[in-house]
Amino acid sequence: MNNQATLVLIKPDGLKKSLTGNILTRLSETKLEIVAAKMVRVTDELAREHYAHLKDQPFFEELINYIKGDLHDRKKAMAMVYWGEGAIGKVRQLAGATNPEEADPVSIRGAYGRITTKGLYENVIHCSSNESEARREIQLWFAPEEIIVELYPTKEAVEKEVRRTVWAK
Ligand code: PPS
Repeated sequence: MNNQATLVLIKPDGLKKSLTGNILTRLSETKLEIVAAKMVRVTDELAREHYAHLKDQPFFEELINYIKGDLHDRKKAMAMVYWGEGAIGKVRQLAGATNPEEADPVSIRGAYGRITTKGLYENVIHCSSNESEARREIQLWFAPEEIIVELYPTKEAVEKEVRRTVWAK
């Protein structure tokens, strides 16, 4: 089987419930390598782009509020890229079914997820569903220099007058 990359997000409910350590420990069973990791303030733009394929679903606006942290008073998510043989399937297996009520009780979502009274799945983590989605999602959440292996082709770009915050020393 080929080496694959997959995006894993620990969602705001996972952070609020202090599940980061448990989730990373479970994911370490895969023996995959973490090749990128960061805490992210999820903007409205990023949230809508990530879930763009679901924009016509009745739960879409609530899903956007959820991933931005509005439902959990935790305006952050942890984003990681796991890499290695069969990474997508291995992570999905440990994550369990998207619907936490249908997920294997010993899977991450089965153990820690819930469905809200509004019918939204609060399922603690997101993981990519296939290779093309993984590529789209990883390129959305990470810049090439934030990933310690070269996953996808890159090109040099000269950016003029880009305003960014740097250390004041
Ligand atoms: S999957 O399993 O990722 O392939 O599923 P997909 O259909 O692409 O994504 C569905 C995402 O929407 C979240 N969500 C719900 N789905 C279905 N029904 C309800 N009520 C619902 N509420 C939330 C679901 O958790 C998937 O997001 P992720 O981030 O992948 O978990």
